[in-house]
Amino acid sequence: MFLETRSLLGELFNVSPDHINRIVFASSATEALNTAVRGLLKPGDHVITTGLEHNALWRPLKMLERAGMIELTVLPCPDGLAVDPEDAANALRENTALVAAAHASNVTGALQPIAALGQICREAQVPFLVDAAQTAGIYPIDVEAWNIGLLAFTGHKGLLGPQGTGGLYIAPELVLEPLKYGGTGSASLPDEMPDWLPDRFEAGTQNGPGIAGLKAAAEFILATGVENIRRHEMSLTARLQQGLAQIPGVTLYGPRDMAGKVPIVSCNVGAVDSEEVAYVLDEVYDIQVRAGLHCAPQAHRSLGTLDQGTVRFSIGHFNTVEQIDAALQAVEEIARG
Ligand SMILES: Cc1ncc(COP(=O)(O)O)c(C=O)c1O
Repeated sequence: MFLETRSLLGELFNVSPDHINRIVFASSATEALNTAVRGLLKPGDHVITTGLEHNALWRPLKMLERAGMIELTVLPCPDGLAVDPEDAANALRENTALVAAAHASNVTGALQPIAALGQICREAQVPFLVDAAQTAGIYPIDVEAWNIGLLAFTGHKGLLGPQGTGGLYIAPELVLEPLKYGGTGSASLPDEMPDWLPDRFEAGTQNGPGIAGLKAAAEFILATGVENIRRHEMSLTARLQQGLAQIPGVTLYGPRDMAGKVPIVSCNVGAVDSEEVAYVLDEVYDIQVRAGLHCAPQAHRSLGTLDQGTVRFSIGHFNTVEQIDAALQAVEEIARG
């Protein structure tokens, strides 16, 4: 069951069938990102990242920077939009050991130019880490074509799996120290962790029930088709975004162009605190959104919304046109006061 799940995920991410065991399971994208960052980086390394990162990547990097272990360059993302790949190329140094970026921002939905960044990393021979928490399952991902050496994903968002699942793909050329040490159910005699994957990174009893759920979810996604899922979600996102743009007092954030984003719409209603709007949407209209800083304060720094936060609608495969229209009506009523 574990092997089959790895194979299904490999299909979604275009991992070569020979490297399926290089997809290691983790409890979340956060654990996968910690495994990547803390397992790869050495004292004196330089890392390039972006101004849109979730704390799951941002905090491990800042911790290593504060400890004096790494130097960090943060590429600007004005107005919560994508980085300019040229900025990444210009930031490269002799000691650059990692370029790390979320595939898409969980605040503005902006898709980063992953193929271009991957190409820059290929030419400079620098490992490329992608946080696919917002794209796995809803956007085609190609670790081979995009030169992704490390791909972190979570099970419970676009992959439609249970909470407590996720993982990390580690390309064959990369050697990482494990984050966790312990029993692997294999090669029990040596004092050291096995050097083969996935065992090297899967110490302790694994989340069998969670992986079974992830397997069923991956089967559903492959049968439905990532492109079909994306098309439906983006058409609802376009409807929501266009409708919100017509409501007086509503401010929209992030890319307007559907090709440049994932199915997220971040907005504010006048100067009302985002948590208050979310509370009314939930209590009065039975509509659930996320409000506040969404664990990504850097993104709010670039949007100028550190105080107010934003109201974020996340559209999923099972949402309908009627639900989008109900959300628009609710926001209109809230904006009218
Ligand atoms: C871009 C991004 N990265 C990482 C994470 C963390 O995912 P997890 O909760 O699985 O650790 C999230 C969750 O919101 C996210 O949106």
